[in-house]
Amino acid sequence: MATSQGTKIANLHPNQRFRPANPPNSPKFLLALTLPLTLILHSKPKQLIFTAKSFKARRMLKKILITLILTLTLTLTLRAAEGMWIPALLKSLNEKDMQAMGLKLTAEDIYSVNKSSLKDAIVLFGGGCTAEVISTQGLILTNHHCGFSQIQSHSSVEHDYLKDGFWAKSKDQELANPGLTATFIVRIEDVTAKILDGTDGLDVAARAARIGANIQAIEAATEAAEPKHQAEIKPFFYGNEFYMIVTKTFTDVRLVGAPPGGVGKFGGDTDNWMWPRHTGDFSMFRIYADANNEPAAYSADNKPYTPGHSLPVSLKGTKPGDFTMVYGFPGQTQQYLHSEMVKFIAQEMNPRAIAMRDKSLEIIDETMTKSTRLRIAYAAKQARIANAWKKWIGETKGLERLHAVEKKQALESQFNTAVARDPKLASQYGAVVTDLNALILKAKPFLMARSLYIEFYHMGPEALRFSAAFAGLADNYDKLVADGKLADEIKKLKESTTGFYKNYDPDADRRILAALYPMYIDGLDPTLRPDIHASLTAKYGKDWDRYASETFAKSVFTDEARLNAFLDKFGKKGPKVIQNDPIYQLQKSVSAAWTAKALASGQEVNAKMQDLMRIYVKGLMTVFNDKKYWPDANSTLRVTYGKVEGSEPADGTIYKPYTTMDGVLAKYVKDDPEFDIPQRLIDLAKAHDFGQYADANGDLVVCFTGSNQTTGGNSGSPAIDGSGNLIGLNFDRSWESTMSDVMYDPERCRNIMVDIRYVLFIVDKYAGATNLIQEMKLVRE
Ligand code: ARG
Ligand code: GLU
Repeated sequence: MATSQGTKIANLHPNQRFRPANPPNSPKFLLALTLPLTLILHSKPKQLIFTAKSFKARRMLKKILITLILTLTLTLTLRAAEGMWIPALLKSLNEKDMQAMGLKLTAEDIYSVNKSSLKDAIVLFGGGCTAEVISTQGLILTNHHCGFSQIQSHSSVEHDYLKDGFWAKSKDQELANPGLTATFIVRIEDVTAKILDGTDGLDVAARAARIGANIQAIEAATEAAEPKHQAEIKPFFYGNEFYMIVTKTFTDVRLVGAPPGGVGKFGGDTDNWMWPRHTGDFSMFRIYADANNEPAAYSADNKPYTPGHSLPVSLKGTKPGDFTMVYGFPGQTQQYLHSEMVKFIAQEMNPRAIAMRDKSLEIIDETMTKSTRLRIAYAAKQARIANAWKKWIGETKGLERLHAVEKKQALESQFNTAVARDPKLASQYGAVVTDLNALILKAKPFLMARSLYIEFYHMGPEALRFSAAFAGLADNYDKLVADGKLADEIKKLKESTTGFYKNYDPDADRRILAALYPMYIDGLDPTLRPDIHASLTAKYGKDWDRYASETFAKSVFTDEARLNAFLDKFGKKGPKVIQNDPIYQLQKSVSAAWTAKALASGQEVNAKMQDLMRIYVKGLMTVFNDKKYWPDANSTLRVTYGKVEGSEPADGTIYKPYTTMDGVLAKYVKDDPEFDIPQRLIDLAKAHDFGQYADANGDLVVCFTGSNQTTGGNSGSPAIDGSGNLIGLNFDRSWESTMSDVMYDPERCRNIMVDIRYVLFIVDKYAGATNLIQEMKLVRE
């Protein structure tokens, strides 16, 4: 499958972008604004006061200064909610703060390697989402959109689980999901000293090589000593620190329940990334283990996993101001990016990626209205493309509104000023900002090429990626024959073919090729274009519709019957047919443009940027050392905390922190693809028949918002109250928050959670899956 780079990119969560360097963590715009003030106040107050003419004026000035200090402190306290903290460091960094906000537990209750703690209930779900254990029988809860491809893969026109939902009323009805994993964290260990050992004074390349070797050695030693665990060492703060994450991964994870699409995806793309929200975005799975409660491949003999901890489920509900924390696996933030990079993302990269997705979504959306088969076939792809597309639109706007670039520039110049005052700092950090800004200008063509490659090759016409799997047949035919492996290879390809065409419409794919190809080419630096482009231009001019039509008419990869017939009588001439196939040729040329041209030239710049970012972040932490720093999200376990609260996202607009079932009814539109709901839900809602899940007013809370800083990967993360009980399930951010991965705004950024009582109501009252409710520990305290 493509190159190893390509495969890596393909595995990125849709929200994840390139990693320009090791983005750091950081000094934010508020710091940028307040720092000069702090400096003035602390360094030369007398001088200031001296300038005041009379005593009265002096008193007045003092008063102003005190007010300023108070405002500053207040703002800093408000900002306490920001951050994605390493659980192993809560004790030293956050415990007091969390307890002051309402946490009744200790840091040790949240994360411990010696005793059972909340951590033992937190699951990395399938590599890109979070889930949590909610019963002693390995039942786990995550989002509907996290289980979406599993739910989709079990769906057909006859069993439309996407539309109608799915409930296993007993364990033997649960459905296996090959490839799906559930990973627990065994421990998180600071290995910085060991990893940086012997790196002093090395140049960029030698340093990277030494670090790589150190990482490998320690990972290997750990796995050898602990055969049931996996060890991975990751850089934090752009390689200023390193932590080893030791994990245990289960591979028998079965689908237990999913609400109807009208609940789990209620509001669709229209409501996605928006508040007020009314989506019951949840699904349930179960982890199975062998007789010793250890990971094992799927087997009918496996037993439900007995977890180290399962979260009690709270029926109590919340009120504004209540402490909340979200415990999970945020994927990537880029809070330390420097101004040129932020400018590049907001003004160049996002707009191009958005425009390409505009086109493919237009085509896919139309395709999905054509039949039930096509709606199911394209559901997961559509959701994947649309999600990041909409986020980037919000992010781009948010960065503009926040004046993110200007704030970064202000911070950088403040940094430079502070550094210039001290010769030692100046020698270490004096040039880093200038160097970074110069380097990003150099790196832009590469970064753009990477984004366009993802958009065209990995998110664009699917026939391309599909055809890459036939490279073995095309290139190694003689060897396959000599080894007697040809028949096996063909059989394997035929099997993958069935899965591919189940979710494929050649007509849509052809239109996507025609629309996206010129956009891909247009964004590329001319030196980074695929070689094939010259001959295509010679033949088709700019008539990409004709190019796509002829290609799709001719290629063996764009028609199931044609491909099967070809494979059935695959002979000596087969390899040539593949090599001459127009889809295969485009695929090859586009991959080569990325690996042989862009990557080859970009890797060095990229390595340099990583190194400069490491120095810059270290500089920030040294120069502005009165602030607590958190490392950017990197798909490792983090705790984020805040409180239940609404926001005032724009002039004249107030967001309340709760939505209720009445709001679902108000949004309901019969037969609408996004806002339809099942009749049974309408009946229960109209009758206010919510059972024990109603709040004190007899309403049913559906979603709520909080000031917990989250990002992609936090989907499915538990929202936990001050006592360690489950109160909700994180699944989104509001529109006005979507820039928070680059720049957080404590006034506006809110995460969106489904209230756990709505989840229970759907499982129990709507679906009658009381078997699941009985497994949980419900608390009302
Ligand atoms: N925006 C949320 C996240 O980034 C939810 C996405 C799923 N919902 C949807 N309508 N596509 O994953
Ligand atoms: N929906 C996101 C996810 O899939 C989480 C929300 C966010 O990005 O804040 O992880």
